[in-house]
Amino acid sequence: MPAITRPRGTNDLLPAEAPLREWVLDTHARVAAAHGYDPIDTPVFEATEMYERGTGAGTDVVEKEMFSFTDRGGRQLTLRPEGTPGVLRAVLGAHLEQERRPVRVHYAGPMFRYARPQAGRYHEFWQLGIEAIGERSPALDAEVIEVAWRFYEALGVSGLSLQVNTLGDIEDRLRYRAALVEYFTPLRSRLCDDCRRRLEVNPLRLLDCKRDAGLVSDAPQIGPSLSPESQGFFTRVTDLLSAAGIPFSLNPRLVRGLDYYAHTTFELWHESLQGAQNALGGGGRYDGLAEVLGFPSVPGSGYALGVERTLAVCREQGLGPAPRRDRVVVLGVGPTDAPAAARVARELRAAGVAAVLDASERRLDRRLATAARQGARAAVLVGAEEAAAGAATWKDLDTGRQETAPVAGVAAALGRLLAAG
Ligand code: HAM
Repeated sequence: MPAITRPRGTNDLLPAEAPLREWVLDTHARVAAAHGYDPIDTPVFEATEMYERGTGAGTDVVEKEMFSFTDRGGRQLTLRPEGTPGVLRAVLGAHLEQERRPVRVHYAGPMFRYARPQAGRYHEFWQLGIEAIGERSPALDAEVIEVAWRFYEALGVSGLSLQVNTLGDIEDRLRYRAALVEYFTPLRSRLCDDCRRRLEVNPLRLLDCKRDAGLVSDAPQIGPSLSPESQGFFTRVTDLLSAAGIPFSLNPRLVRGLDYYAHTTFELWHESLQGAQNALGGGGRYDGLAEVLGFPSVPGSGYALGVERTLAVCREQGLGPAPRRDRVVVLGVGPTDAPAAARVARELRAAGVAAVLDASERRLDRRLATAARQGARAAVLVGAEEAAAGAATWKDLDTGRQETAPVAGVAAALGRLLAAG
């Protein structure tokens, strides 16, 4: 029988890789919390309609990439392709915006998109994100961008490029849309199949096309379609970024792949990520999304960052937490010492020392070698004599130093040893 394999486009998180991801997730939670963002968690599946209306029926994500299914009660559901509509639904559904504005939340979790798997693009992937809901201000957009920037700074990532743009308000976008249709319509026969369709449903998405890049480079830019108010809003965002010492590039082609953006949009690119997958993350303002989801109009701004892509950059740059040496191994010296060793391990754990019990019956020297290889900081040996005296012998696996003492004293010594790192 062939062994079962992992589904295409998914990843396992093996124990050796867990500390790096935990460090990345913890760092994000810490940086977000330092800016006033509280944790939020929403369901992994939601009503399909939420994404059709929110993310946008004409987007690639909704048209081609959703994992949708009908449950046994006949409801249309979708594994979330992104976090923003669900978080907004949760916040507004609980009326949090009536208690304080903006509501600042951060999240981490798996997302699902059925795009052709390749390096940096998966069917199941994780996002880290924040959403700031209930305030329409350039300062909040600058804050959101700054949190993402400070996060990568805290990781120590270098080589980031921040791309920013504005899509203006609805009227600006209608003007811009008309300008794009006017420009692309005579070129229709030279466009790829996707773009011919985009010309009808979502002309802004044409700007993203890699195949038609030649035609796109001469397309009109959004600038002339912006009202003075929209232009002013954006200038304040970029002034605030400059004041915060955050370098950025103005990128008038940055349209983003989701329908709900208005005004500020941004992406963080990394030089080491390839081609279309070079975005570590992105986000922007989504003032119309609440209404589209059936709530009163409430503005919002946020971002999401790709965890796998962030991990790839960390690995490439040799970034990560200091190796953990936060455990000891407890070994019974002979086969009959196993119950006493288990008792000592329990006592150590009760005193706050992480203790792995080695209950195997292999030779002691082999078991000690394994403990050292697996990163244990110390070994605790329990033989018949020690057990009878309520004592144990602990051995520092780095220095070889060894000492026999009552179990409480061993626990205190190991606590100090592990705390010293
Ligand atoms: P997004 O640009 O669609 O934005 O996704 C954000 C990030 O998620 C991407 O830059 C990328 O790093 C990662 N990502 C997306 N798709 C995949 C995939 N198939 N495999 C691996 N990583 C992927 C959003 O999702 C918006 N919700 C961001 C936002 C929040 N806007 C406002 N608030």
